[in-house]
Amino acid sequence: MARLTFSINFNEVSGFLQYYVVIICAFFFLVSSILIPGISSQNLPMNQCVTGYNADNDYFPDKATVETATLFSINYFKSYKLVTNKQTNEIFALYQCGTPIPANLPAGAKPIQISVKNVAVTDTSAIPFLDLLGFRSSIKLLDTSDLVSSPCVQSAKDSGTISILTNNQTLNTIELAGVDVSFGAFQANPADPKSVSIAAASDPGIINRVEWLKFYSTFFNAEAKANDVYGKIKANYECYKNLANKNAPSAKPIVAWVNYDAPSEFNQNTPSWQIADAAFKKQLTEDAGGAYFNVTPLSYATSADFLKAIQNVDIIIDETFVGSNIADFYSNFGITPDQQQQFKFVKNQAIYREDGTTNPNDGRDWLENAIAMGDALLEDMINVVNPKLPKSDYNRIWLRNIAKNEPIKISSAANCTNPDQSLTSKADDCAAVSAKGTGAISSTPTFFSCFIAIIFVTFVTLFI
Ligand SMILES: *[C@@H]1O[C@H](CO)[C@@H](O)[C@H](O)[C@H]1NC(C)=O
Ligand SMILES: *[C@@H]1O[C@H](CO)[C@@H](O)[C@H](O)[C@H]1NC(C)=O
Repeated sequence: MARLTFSINFNEVSGFLQYYVVIICAFFFLVSSILIPGISSQNLPMNQCVTGYNADNDYFPDKATVETATLFSINYFKSYKLVTNKQTNEIFALYQCGTPIPANLPAGAKPIQISVKNVAVTDTSAIPFLDLLGFRSSIKLLDTSDLVSSPCVQSAKDSGTISILTNNQTLNTIELAGVDVSFGAFQANPADPKSVSIAAASDPGIINRVEWLKFYSTFFNAEAKANDVYGKIKANYECYKNLANKNAPSAKPIVAWVNYDAPSEFNQNTPSWQIADAAFKKQLTEDAGGAYFNVTPLSYATSADFLKAIQNVDIIIDETFVGSNIADFYSNFGITPDQQQQFKFVKNQAIYREDGTTNPNDGRDWLENAIAMGDALLEDMINVVNPKLPKSDYNRIWLRNIAKNEPIKISSAANCTNPDQSLTSKADDCAAVSAKGTGAISSTPTFFSCFIAIIFVTFVTLFI
C-alpha cells in the first residue's frame, strides 16, 4: 500500500522534482546507515583485538536488549559490558581485548577479557545456547559429560577434542587453566575468576529461557547473532501460540504435571505424590491451548489422596525421574487395574514423559535442547494437547506417550552427521505449517519504499 501511494505520487510530479526526491532518498539512506548501529559497523569478531584504543569509541555497536528474561541484565559501556546473573547476583565485567581492564567496577564484579575463545561447560543446558550461536567448537572441557545429549559434542568427546573433568584435582587445575571461562555453576563462585553462573532453566517463561542466548552471546561479542536467533525462535513461538489458540477446543483439556517422590534417604523414607507449579510449565500448557492444572495442596502423603485430586485431569505429564513405562507409572501412582478406566488420561491414552530423546545413558535432551528451542518445545506441547496439530504426522521430540508405548529416541555420537554445522532450532517453520496460513501482514519498510521509488523514478525518467 505504502509503495503504491508513493509511486502514484511520483508519477504526478515534474521530472525535476523526481530527481529531487531521489536525492533526498539517497541522503536518507546514507544518514540512516551511519546512525543505525549494525548497518555500518559491528562488534569485533573472536580473533580481533582493539589496536589504538580510544576512550571515546563505542566498541560494541551490536547490542542486545533484554526483553522478557528476568534473571539477567546487560549494561553497555564504551569498552566493556556489565552482565549480571540476577539469580546469583554474580556480575561479569566483559572488556574488549586491547582495551584497559575497567576501573571502578561494582563490588565483586569479575573482569573477563572478551571474546572468550575456549570454554568449559559444567551444566549441559549451556550446550545448545553455545551451539545455536555457532560456538560449539569453543567447548574444550566438560563436566557431567555422561549426560550430554548433543550428538556432535558426544562425538568431540569421543575423539578427544573435548576433555573431561575428572576427580583428579591436579589434572582439573591444569585443564581449567586452558579455558577462559567455565559456564554452568548454579551459585556465584567469587573465588574462581572463571566461573560463570547461569540460570536459564529457572527464568520463569519459555521465551525468558530462550533469551539467555543473549547472555551467552555477550562473552563472544555475538549479540547480532543472538538477536537474530532469538528473534526467529520468538516469532515462530508466537505463530504456534496463535495457531494453537485459534484451534483450541471450547473445553480446554486439563493438563497436570506430576511427580512421584519414592522413599529414600533424602526424604526420611517418606514417599510423596506431587503436582508441579512452575511458571514455564503453566505458560507452555496454556500457550499450547490446554488448561494448567493447579490445586491446593500440591503435595500428598498417600496416592489415594493424590488420585482424588487429579480425578478430572485429561492429560498427564509424568516427571518422575525413574520409571520409564506405563507399568511403572501405574505402580508409582498406585493405580490398580480395576481403577484405571476411571481416569480420562488412561482412557484417552494421554500419559507423557519428558524422556522422548535421551543419550545412551538416559541424559535428557529435555534438560538441554528443550530449554533453548522454545518454539520446538511448544510444537511438542501443542501435539500433546491436540494430536492433530501442528500437523497430523508431527513427530514429538521430547514428550513421549507411554500410554501408547512410544519408543525413546537415542541421541548418540553417531547422530552427528555434520560436525562443522552449528545447531539450529528443531522446530518446523510455523508459517509453512499453518494450515490456513495466518496471513502474515508484512508492513513495507520505509527503506524498501524508498528503494522502489528510486528504481521506479529512474525507470520512468529513462524510458518515457
Ligand atoms: C592426577 O593427574 C596428574 C597430572 O596428569 C598425574 O601426574 C597424577 O598421577 C594423577 N593422580 C592420580 C591419583 O591419578
Ligand atoms: C539417531 O540415529 C538413529 C539411527 O539412524 C535413529 O534411530 C535415532 O532416532 C536418531 N536419534 C535422534 C535423536 O534423532
